[in-house]
Amino acid sequence: MTSLFEVLKPGGKDWALAESIDPSRLPAHVAVIMDGNGRWAGRRGLPRVAGHRAGIEPVRMAVETCARLGIQALTLYAFSVENWKRPRAEVDTLWRLLRIYLRREIPDLMENDIQLRAMGRLDALPAAARRELDAAIATTAQNRGMHLNLAINYSGRAELVDAVNSLIADARQAGTLDSLQLDEQTLSSRLYTAGLPDPDLLIRTSGEMRVSNFLLWQIAYAELYVTDTLWPDFRRAELLEAILEYQRRDRRFGGLGSSTPVFDRASLLAGALIEALGATR
Ligand code: FPP
Repeated sequence: MTSLFEVLKPGGKDWALAESIDPSRLPAHVAVIMDGNGRWAGRRGLPRVAGHRAGIEPVRMAVETCARLGIQALTLYAFSVENWKRPRAEVDTLWRLLRIYLRREIPDLMENDIQLRAMGRLDALPAAARRELDAAIATTAQNRGMHLNLAINYSGRAELVDAVNSLIADARQAGTLDSLQLDEQTLSSRLYTAGLPDPDLLIRTSGEMRVSNFLLWQIAYAELYVTDTLWPDFRRAELLEAILEYQRRDRRFGGLGSSTPVFDRASLLAGALIEALGATR
């Protein structure tokens, strides 16, 4: 398996950060809202599309870094259903960039054993982009390393609606619609992320405190990392910092978590015992 250290400068900042990461407590799934391309370009007096073009390098870095760290899945928000509202020229550039990325990256995806997937309403994609996307997915289908999910023409609400409708359609066909009862597992199994762990870490660049219709179901317990850095400026060091920050978090999933003092835990246990004994009296 490839290691991140193979591509880092020994003794450099990224090396030191990578060394601080506990490999046994990596997020299994990292999701990223790549935001701020337009502002990055605007601050330089450049057209917005220059920001998108500059956003490709951080995509390459994030994919390589996560794959080499041994992260199971990386999901990138590349195009939302709302992005169609942008000027035609900008939307066309985004499709062109996707095709350039796919064409250029396949050798790297193969070398790093990365399996590409796409999630979203893909039927609406321009034919050329769809063709290249399907080809890249087929080429990498046998890879067994990291799953790279590109969210394209994606909407979290649409994903949930599609999942429920597909369950209803199946039940109707099976004649079991009257008794159809959904549970969390059944619904999860119809999402684009079926078979993958939910994201543990959601990174958003450019400082906006929103989830923007991204993975609404799957991020229920994700740790959020929001940075003011604009996506084209997002470097490896900051990705490693985000993972380190994730490792410092006390994940409670609604429970008490590991930072609850031992004394409190002991007294809680004692309380529960006393109650249980009382109940049996
Ligand atoms: C948000 O920035 C970014 C996007 C809508 C597109 C993301 C695309 C890339 C990073 C480039 C290519 C990606 C792949 C996977 C090939 P924004 O334009 O909304 O920024 P703003 O909020 O500053 O206007």
